[in-house]
Amino acid sequence: MFSNEVKQQQMADILALSPVLPVVVIHELSHAVPVARALVAGGITSIEVTLRTPVALEAIQAITAEVDNMVVGAGTVRDGDQLRAAHAAGARFAVSPGASPSLLGAASLGELPLLPGVATAGEVMHLYERGYRYMKLFPAVPLGGQKLLAAWASPLPQVQFCPTGGITPDNAVDFLALPNVKCVGGSWLIPKEKLYAGDWSGMEQLAREAAALRRAQEHHSLKVQGEGD
Ligand code: 3PG
Repeated sequence: MFSNEVKQQQMADILALSPVLPVVVIHELSHAVPVARALVAGGITSIEVTLRTPVALEAIQAITAEVDNMVVGAGTVRDGDQLRAAHAAGARFAVSPGASPSLLGAASLGELPLLPGVATAGEVMHLYERGYRYMKLFPAVPLGGQKLLAAWASPLPQVQFCPTGGITPDNAVDFLALPNVKCVGGSWLIPKEKLYAGDWSGMEQLAREAAALRRAQEHHSLKVQGEGD
């Protein structure tokens, strides 16, 4: 059994790496390393590779082995077997769309920090009781987006979120300005057309713009605080 405090601290450090956690579905193994290199070149040093394709675990392995400075996580983890397979492939963290008892049981026995998905205040409270301090709000925009998270900030102040699902470059700053948002997740940094065109410099540019959201986040938070004074 690995200490929950250690895993929560690891998750905090991972979510602090970038204002945006890119979510990617890799169909062609040959895309994995160039995508990760493009993101790192643009200043984004974390990535969630979803376990939705047959090559996902190999993609995690390849990025882990070949791309310095990239922290790779496994996304769409739904059970203990996937969690263990992701860890064996070299993933440094796991993300799930929701939380089942068996997944949570496997996560508490294993070493890999898990960012579990939530959609209701009850789920947040349940996971908080189990020691989780970082959760993914999924699917963020359909559930209520910034308004939902703003409403949770006061009654559920001990939890920080990575909202994912429907986040865009246009609404990301508003999410990032919320006190209970650590970072946002999104697939927009890796558009399919750029992936299949091998447009790595285009992805690097999208990553650079996403990394710059950190400065916008700080500026926006200060402005909001100033207006409240
Ligand atoms: C997903 O599960 O695919 C993520 O939530 C990404 O959502 P997005 O495509 O709306 O960014």
